Amino acid sequence: MSSFRWRTPLEVALVSTIIYVLLGAPGLPAWIWPGTTPAITPGGHQAPPTTNRSDSLVNPDPNLQCPEHNYRTHIFSTTPLIVYIDDFLSPEETAHLIDISASNYQPSTLFTAGHETLDPTIRLSEKALLPRDPVVQCLETRALAFQGWPAHTAIERLWTQRYNVSGHYAHHYDWSSNSRTQRRVSTFMVYLTGRGEGGCEGGGTEFPRIARPPLVGGGGGDGKVGGGGGSKWCEFIECEGEGEGVTFIPRAGSAVFWMNFDGEGRGYKETIHAGLPVTSGTKIGLNIWSWYQAE
Ligand SMILES: *[C@@H]1O[C@H](CO)[C@@H](O)[C@H](O)[C@H]1NC(C)=O
Ligand SMILES: *[C@@H]1O[C@H](CO)[C@@H](O)[C@H](O)[C@H]1NC(C)=O
Repeated sequence: MSSFRWRTPLEVALVSTIIYVLLGAPGLPAWIWPGTTPAITPGGHQAPPTTNRSDSLVNPDPNLQCPEHNYRTHIFSTTPLIVYIDDFLSPEETAHLIDISASNYQPSTLFTAGHETLDPTIRLSEKALLPRDPVVQCLETRALAFQGWPAHTAIERLWTQRYNVSGHYAHHYDWSSNSRTQRRVSTFMVYLTGRGEGGCEGGGTEFPRIARPPLVGGGGGDGKVGGGGGSKWCEFIECEGEGEGVTFIPRAGSAVFWMNFDGEGRGYKETIHAGLPVTSGTKIGLNIWSWYQAE
């Protein structure tokens, strides 16, 4: 009887620890285990820029004359910061980026523990490296300006991604590195094609751990506190169906921006996301990643 009383709490503690570790130690900051990736991360998008910085990290020409932007921002979440940016690109810029990518596509790969692999069950798309012409450099400039010109931060070379029917990218983080001195601080998911004429169906960007806003009211003038403008979001997120979390709708020229880390360099678990399968047409997108490198 007495040995039973001692054994049970020990067993409970042991089993709980095993379950906690199997769950990927939720709540533990990522930097406690440097060099490891979270359990659900199927791998990075492309080689993190640590191998050869001068090759993959860029700073736009500061003397470039760039057109004034014409975008509108809508804050979706403050922790982590997620912003929907309507008309981040002009129709001319969007058409130009599609055009200069057209002849450069190659299959998209994954980087897992430093190895480049091809796994269509996780990621099925094609990628094209963008030449850094003035339009591309103005986009790099716009991305840095949007973030308030953060110190010690450069842009990773831009690649477009093309997803044909059934093209997708399984749930993953963009963290790339979870070191305290260098990391992929933020992501812009920019859509070059989207819903409607000549675009695609499906292909939304899903965040399963972030709740959809309550779709009550129209934000309109009834004077009630918390009346809510939730249904305004239906232009930018999926409001139909019972899907997990929130799914942003690809709309040509628009972008979703989010921060991958908090101020202490801990990765936000809520930023896990997927590119849902394209069901018709072709989705073309573009990530803009900002890379922080402590001096
Ligand atoms: C890194 O890339 C630059 C530019 O492509 C190249 O000149 C340099 O030799 C590379 N460095 C290493 C160590 O590979
Ligand atoms: C995707 O579709 C484009 C045409 O929209 C085609 O040129 C390309 O070969 C397709 N890619 C694959 C991998 O099937």
